[in-house]
Amino acid sequence: MTDLQPVVCDTAEAMSRQAADLIVSLLREDPSLLLCAATGSTPTRTYELLLERYRAEPGLFDRMRVLKLDEWYELEMEHPGTCEAYLQRHLLGPLGIGAERYAGFDSRAPDSDAECARIRTWLADQGGIGLCILGIGRNGHLGLNEPGESLPPHAHLAELREETRRHPMLVDASERPRHGLTLGMAEILQSRRILLLVSGAGKREILARLLASPVTTALPASFLHLHPAVTLLCDREAARGN
Ligand code: PGA
Repeated sequence: MTDLQPVVCDTAEAMSRQAADLIVSLLREDPSLLLCAATGSTPTRTYELLLERYRAEPGLFDRMRVLKLDEWYELEMEHPGTCEAYLQRHLLGPLGIGAERYAGFDSRAPDSDAECARIRTWLADQGGIGLCILGIGRNGHLGLNEPGESLPPHAHLAELREETRRHPMLVDASERPRHGLTLGMAEILQSRRILLLVSGAGKREILARLLASPVTTALPASFLHLHPAVTLLCDREAARGN
């Protein structure tokens, strides 16, 4: 069915190390790599490992650029549950990446269409994503491209599914957001390379579904079957039975 061949690592730690190695090797080829960064629990260890590489070789990240994949809409930007707060804490702050090398959706943008247009213009001006790091939701979403009968192709305001609204990042939100801002499948699939990380027993079922699925908006991650350069790293827990 698929060219998506998971590379199965023994542990989540080994998966994260392999992910960090890939990022660093791409940075050596292109020091101004534009990294599109997912948030959530899955990539956190990878980002920590990048900090170790930074400490050993600070210059490595001097020109790297970052784009935030998605954001909860309507949550205050300063709220600790935003993707912004996550990236500032785990990636941008530690690696010293300032506003001149970073863009991301504003969770409180008054006009979501204008905000999506702003991000698309920034991305076009930067020349596209070099490496897009993705996790997968248990419902098969990528970014906040939620399963459904259709998918808007480009960056858009997405109505969140109930299971997405229960994401642990939002545990402290007094009111869990109903919408999110996300890159669309077009921006994701135009990345030169994609790195999908899948770890833990909780992702076993969706990984199995992904590997067996035709391309369908009912499982947005299945669009990755169309991309010629996806690296799918998973740990043994997620791969078991696959
Ligand atoms: P997780 O989130 O990495 O915290 O599992 C992934 C997602 O829901 O997209």
